[in-house]
Amino acid sequence: MQAVEITDAVWERLLALRSGSGETPVGDDPATALYAPIAGARGPFVLAQVGQSLDGRVATPSGDAANVSGPDGLAHLHRCRALVDAVVVGVGTIKADNPRLSVRLAEGPSPVRVVIDCHGALDGREGLFHDGGAPVIVIESTSAPARPLPNAEILRIPPSGSGLATGAIVNALAGRRLNRLLVEGGARTIARFIEEGQVDRLHVAISPLIIGAGPSGITLPPVARLSDALRPSAKVFSLGSDILFDCVLTTSGRQGKKVDVADGT
Ligand SMILES: NC(=O)c1ccc[n+]([C@@H]2O[C@H](COP(=O)([O-])OP(=O)(O)OC[C@H]3O[C@@H](n4cnc5c(N)ncnc54)[C@H](OP(=O)(O)O)[C@@H]3O)[C@@H](O)[C@H]2O)c1
Repeated sequence: MQAVEITDAVWERLLALRSGSGETPVGDDPATALYAPIAGARGPFVLAQVGQSLDGRVATPSGDAANVSGPDGLAHLHRCRALVDAVVVGVGTIKADNPRLSVRLAEGPSPVRVVIDCHGALDGREGLFHDGGAPVIVIESTSAPARPLPNAEILRIPPSGSGLATGAIVNALAGRRLNRLLVEGGARTIARFIEEGQVDRLHVAISPLIIGAGPSGITLPPVARLSDALRPSAKVFSLGSDILFDCVLTTSGRQGKKVDVADGT
């Protein structure tokens, strides 16, 4: 296991790589190995990140999810936010946590904030519409009731099956030059991106905490045999307070399909 230690010089090189103004950082230090694939990605790139307890949970049964990750796990999450173009969450996370989704525990820009709200459940009173932070995009189905949301762009996508195809979401954001995406949760949102073969990289940060009950970080359709389970190649990093699995997934759903997207009101 490699210990991640971020020096100012390494972080500045990673931010330069992110903005396209820097050379690919040389060297084999763990921080570069972990973050350069994100900062250096060009074209659609999806990083999914879960911060969970030793028993695989992301919240208590009543929904308390504050500080599942330890301080270094949280700093890692903020570094990931700083290296991507947009952070993506499901409407359940906005309703449960009212997160700001900004970069506060690292130096760097805050990403555009994207909420997947298929059926139009947001009413515009949620904090991210009023905090003066990074731009907000709400992605909803073309069949959702049209309504204005303050300080936000609405992207409407034709429904596919029981929801919105994650490939259509990736394409719609790429059309706005938002290529590097951090899918931050919750579990249902991350599961759909994984199931539909849209995740390039999965970060699972494990904190030494046992919650005992509550929602788990990733829930996928059941498989009968372990041989059918996903077994991504993974590197393991020590963040300090938390252990991180950096997993390479296959983007089998990334066929570059074009999907119609209509701008909302
Ligand atoms: N520890 C962590 O890393 C972490 C991070 C984030 C959140 N959380 C926790 O996770 C919990 C929330 O997770 P959750 O799984 O309940 O909710 P969620 O994933 O945040 O949101 C799920 C909802 O988002 C919409 N959605 C997402 N992807 C969609 C798609 N492809 N197509 C259509 N709709 C889509 C759906 O809304 P509709 O129901 O309207 O169809 C779905 O029900 C909270 O307790 C939060 O604290 C933990």
